[in-house]
Amino acid sequence: MHWMWLLFLSILSTSAIRLKSDQHTKDWWERAGFYQVYPRSFKDSDGDGIGDLNGITEKLSYLKDIGMRGFWLSPMYKSPMADFGYDISDFRDIQPEYGTMNDFRNQITEAKRLGLKVILDFVPNHSSDEHEWFVKSANREAGYEDYYVWRDAKPNPDDPNKPLPPNNWLSGFRGSAWQWNEQRQQFYYHLFTAKQPDLNFRNPKVVEEMKDILLFWLDLGVDGFRIDSVGCMFEVPANENGDFPDEPLSGTTEDSEDFAYLEHIYTIDRLENVEMVYQWRTLLENYQTQHGGDTRILMTESWSNLDIIKPYFKDIQGHEGAQMPFNFRLITELNITSTAYDFKNVIDSWMAIVDDGYAANWVLGNHDRSRLGTRMGEQRIDSMAMIELTLPGVSVTYQGEEIGMTDVDISWEETVDPAGCNEGIDNYAAKSRDPVRTPFQWDDSNLAGFTNGTGTWLPVGSNYRSINVKVESSVAKSHLNIFKSLMKLRESDTFLYGDWRTIAINEQVFAIVRDLKSSNRYITLVNLGSSSQTVDAGKFVKNISKILIYAIVSGASSHNPGDSVTASNIVLQPYEAFVLEAERSVDRKMRAEICERWLID
Ligand code: GLC
Ligand code: MG
Repeated sequence: MHWMWLLFLSILSTSAIRLKSDQHTKDWWERAGFYQVYPRSFKDSDGDGIGDLNGITEKLSYLKDIGMRGFWLSPMYKSPMADFGYDISDFRDIQPEYGTMNDFRNQITEAKRLGLKVILDFVPNHSSDEHEWFVKSANREAGYEDYYVWRDAKPNPDDPNKPLPPNNWLSGFRGSAWQWNEQRQQFYYHLFTAKQPDLNFRNPKVVEEMKDILLFWLDLGVDGFRIDSVGCMFEVPANENGDFPDEPLSGTTEDSEDFAYLEHIYTIDRLENVEMVYQWRTLLENYQTQHGGDTRILMTESWSNLDIIKPYFKDIQGHEGAQMPFNFRLITELNITSTAYDFKNVIDSWMAIVDDGYAANWVLGNHDRSRLGTRMGEQRIDSMAMIELTLPGVSVTYQGEEIGMTDVDISWEETVDPAGCNEGIDNYAAKSRDPVRTPFQWDDSNLAGFTNGTGTWLPVGSNYRSINVKVESSVAKSHLNIFKSLMKLRESDTFLYGDWRTIAINEQVFAIVRDLKSSNRYITLVNLGSSSQTVDAGKFVKNISKILIYAIVSGASSHNPGDSVTASNIVLQPYEAFVLEAERSVDRKMRAEICERWLID
C-alpha cells in the first residue's frame, strides 16, 4: 500500500475513534432540549379553565414528539396564588386546582416511560405568608423566631403610632420591601409581594429545611431543579446595632417606588448565594452516589452580568454549582434593532465564560418576559430558533415559542399578575406578565383546545385559529415544523460534537458555521433586515464545496430543503434564514474509493 494511503487511513481511523470517545463523555443533559411548562396555562383536563397536572401528563408525548429531552415545571405546589405559585404555603404538597400528589406521581411515571426528564422549580428565597413557618414566626414560636427577616420599625417622630420601615429597600414588585406585622409588632422583608416573605438564609435551620425539601422531591424521582431568584437569597449581614444599611440611589429613574430607583448592593448577588448553590450541587451528587441513576441537574435563574453568572458554574477552588446557569443574554441584550455584530458579541461573550468541559445554554423566553415574536418581530421567529438550535449546548424553550405564540393584549380588568396590578391602570401594561402566560394554543377549536370548559383564567390569544399545534402540523414551513426539523438536525454529530464559529458578514447578515472533521459542515445564515442580501460563502468558510444544500429554510423562504445553491452567490430575501449543508465532497469521495478498495467501513 502506498504510504500516503496508509497515512490517510490512519487519520480516518483516529478521527473515528475520537468521535466515539467524545460521545461517551457527553452527559445526558449537555446537548439536551428542555421545555418550560407553565402549569396554569398548558392544558386543562377538568374544565375549570385552569391548566393542571393531568393535562400536562396527557400532553407529554407532544414534548417527546418535538424532540425534547426534558421539561422544567413552574411551581405546582400548594399556594394562595398571590404570585401564581411562586408564593408557596406547603413545599411538599400540590395545589388542589392542579391536582394531587398521586397525579404528580403518575406524571413522573409517564415521563420516565417516554424518556423525559423532570425538573422542578425550587423557590428557596421566600415562602407564602400562609406557610406554617411564617405563622409560627409571626407568633414568635420557639425555634421559628428567626425563619424570616424581621426588623423593628424606625422611630417616627411625627406619629409614634405609624411605624416606619427600617430602611429604604424596595420590592421588585414596587414600593417598600418592608411589611408591618401587627402581631409581632415588627416589619418583615419581602423582595416580591408582601405575601412572599423572604426566608432568612443566615439561620442554619432554614438551610436544613430547604435541603430536606430537595431530598423529598428527589425521592419522588425528579431529575433536577431550576432555582428561582437565586441571587436574592442572602441580604447583607446586619451591623452591630442590628440595622441594615440603606441602598444608594441608582440615578436611572425618578420614580422612588420603582425597583430600579436603587442600586441593590446589599440585597442582590451576594457571594453567599453561589456558595449555597455549591452545597446543593454536593447534595445532588451525594444523592446520586447513594441511589444511582443519571446525573441530577441544577439550573439557576439570575439576570445579572456575566461576571456574576460565571461562578454559578464553578469557582477557582473547584467547587461546582449549576450545570446550567441560565443564559438570558439572547433576551436581555438583543432587540428588534440589533445588528449582526450585536448578535456575534452577545453569543461570543457568553461562550467566553463557558470553560472547556462545561456546556453552553440558550434561553429565548419564559413566563416573565415578552414573547420571542413580540420582542424580536414575528418575521424573526424562525431565524431566532435557527440561531438557538444550531449553536452548541442546551436549549430551553418556553411553551408556545415553538408555534410562534406572541404576547396577548390583556385589559386592566383582566389583569391578575401582581407585577401588573401593583402598577395601577396607567402603567400595568409595561410590567404585567399576563400577556406571556395565556393558554397554550393546541388547535383551532373554541378556546384553542386548552379546555373543555366555558372560560379560561386568562384570555386565549386572538391568533389561535392559525397559530396552534394542530394547524401548524399540517403546514410544511410552519414555525412548529421548522422547529421540529431543527431539533432533529441538532441530534446529528456535527451539532453534537462539532466546532462552532459566529460571523457578522455585514450589519444585516449573521452566520454560524458548525464543523466536524468526520462529518458535514453546516452554515446558518440569517438576514436580520428588510432588504435582500447576497453572500459569497467562500469569503468566510475555507475550502467550501461549490454547491450547498438547503437543510432547513424559514417560513417565508421560496426555497425548500433539498434545493441547492451556488456557494459564491447566495441570495437572502428580507428576513430570510436557512441552514445550509456543505458536504466535505473531496474527503467523502476519497473515503468512498478507499473503502471500496480495502473493504473497510
Ligand atoms: C422568579 C420567577 C417569577 C416570580 C419571582 C418570585 O423571578 O420567575 O415569576 O415572580 O421569581 O418568585
Ligand atoms: Mg383544571
